[in-house]
Amino acid sequence: MSEPLVVVNCKTYASASGLASTALVDALAKVNSDGVRLVLAVSAFDLHALATAHPRLEFWAQHLDPVGQGSYTGWLEPETAMERGASGTLINHAEHKVDLDHVERLLGQLDGRIQTCACAADEAEAKALAGLAPAMIAVEPPELIGGDVSVTSADPGIVQDTVRLVKDINADIMVLCGAGVKTGEDVNAALRLGAEGVLLASGVTKASDPAAVLQDLVDGARGA
Ligand code: G3P
Repeated sequence: MSEPLVVVNCKTYASASGLASTALVDALAKVNSDGVRLVLAVSAFDLHALATAHPRLEFWAQHLDPVGQGSYTGWLEPETAMERGASGTLINHAEHKVDLDHVERLLGQLDGRIQTCACAADEAEAKALAGLAPAMIAVEPPELIGGDVSVTSADPGIVQDTVRLVKDINADIMVLCGAGVKTGEDVNAALRLGAEGVLLASGVTKASDPAAVLQDLVDGARGA
């Protein structure tokens, strides 16, 4: 079984973007994450600087577009993201929805060179995405995102059902859950429900001591 995964999504939080991202990631890099796979999904603007400063950490893009190199002003083009240090990407996040065709074309273009974590609002969307065989699917009920109640307590059934439905379609797809995840106990609960990791943001980006929160999250993943 692979290491449990903790993905921290920096979104566009001021505390986790631009110059602030340097201080944040410097602090998070000090966390002892042995035995846990830690990933930071960062702003495209920050990717290169962070990946260069922390070659041992894993950085993902928050979104990519299935476009080539050329006449695509303003799009997030995958080859450059990879060259600049992205080892994976989120796609179809609740805050950046795309259609299934976008996901399918992106997966085809990446061709497994980096991992793709497709986000789903519910079981039905997770099922549809599973048919496209991304490396991971993260189920996140939109109404719980940014809130104080973890999906693992508010709706444990959606985690269990998503794991079952996705694994029935393709057992190789890792299933994560997210929304409201803030503590090691939340991570522990996610793993007990069958998820292989968590996707979270505000628990770390809004914390007064982000490194302490991340240490707790990682310890929770280890304790499962
Ligand atoms: O991408 C993670 C996310 O949407 C969940 O956000 O703030 O509820 O951890 P948050």
